[in-house]
Amino acid sequence: MPTDARRLIRKMRGGAQAHLLEAADGHAYVVKFLNNPQHRRILVNEWISSTFLSYLGISTPAAAIVRLSEEFLAANPEVHLQLGTHRQPPDVGWHFGSRFPGDPARNVVYDFLPDSILETIENLPDFLGALVFDKWMGNADSRQAVFFRARLKEWIPGSEAHGLKMGFVAQMIDNGYIFNGPHWAFTDSAIQGLYFRPGVYREVRGLADFEPWLSRIVHFPEEVIDQAVKAIPPIWLDGDEETFDVLLARLLKRRARVPDLIEASRRGLVNPFPSWR
Ligand SMILES: Nc1ncnc2c1ncn2[C@@H]1O[C@H](COP(=O)(O)OP(=O)(O)O)[C@@H](O)[C@H]1O
Ligand SMILES: [Mg+2]
Repeated sequence: MPTDARRLIRKMRGGAQAHLLEAADGHAYVVKFLNNPQHRRILVNEWISSTFLSYLGISTPAAAIVRLSEEFLAANPEVHLQLGTHRQPPDVGWHFGSRFPGDPARNVVYDFLPDSILETIENLPDFLGALVFDKWMGNADSRQAVFFRARLKEWIPGSEAHGLKMGFVAQMIDNGYIFNGPHWAFTDSAIQGLYFRPGVYREVRGLADFEPWLSRIVHFPEEVIDQAVKAIPPIWLDGDEETFDVLLARLLKRRARVPDLIEASRRGLVNPFPSWR
């Protein structure tokens, strides 16, 4: 069920012109609007990614459908998209929300960490899982994540840290360009999906390092796909239903190719896995 937007906290940077909004469920969400400047399909891509990443056990923010009412938009004219010189309000209705970890007034979330801290984060292997995911989904973008300091036990399932231990946690965000964004096609290049800091891949010695995510994808259940599709608000797909079904059929077929796609990233201009011989 959607949650209602209550208050604008701030606008975010980035091509989708997302807005950080407080919602009626008590959480804050980075919201991408249906009529965002990238494309309506970006929301479908984000939604599917969120479901799949969660199923695969890769850290990612909870997703929600955030509803903008006519009253909210009338009371918050600063919530708008800037298209050239033209201001465009978001559509009334349902949009994609990516949950902000904690309270934006008290918790700092970083887009980047210095290498020295990055390499100590508790769930660093999630970047290996994310690469398997990105290769499968044909993410035409490089990998993006956010980072924050928190109690590890609360954010990392299965963490062996003791109850109060604090540390940095990564969450995978911005999956708008899976399926090559609005094009809904698979473009496989060696470098796509890679994170821009090579340190996250330093320990990779072979395909076995991409487990358990690799096996989970090769055997990815069709039911998880069906469930994710059923939960997409119909207006996000409006007229695209058949095209999307064809795309998902191709996605299913690609499962078996994912190990090859990972290996192929070694044949780019720079080998991201220097320890893999
Ligand atoms: N769940 C989240 N929690 C905190 N910050 C987020 C979250 N999702 C996105 N952001 C922030 O918002 C910015 C824009 O979101 P992003 O998904 O990257 O959109 P774009 O497609 O416009 O690049 C990100 O660079 C990041 O700083
Ligand atoms: Mg981004």
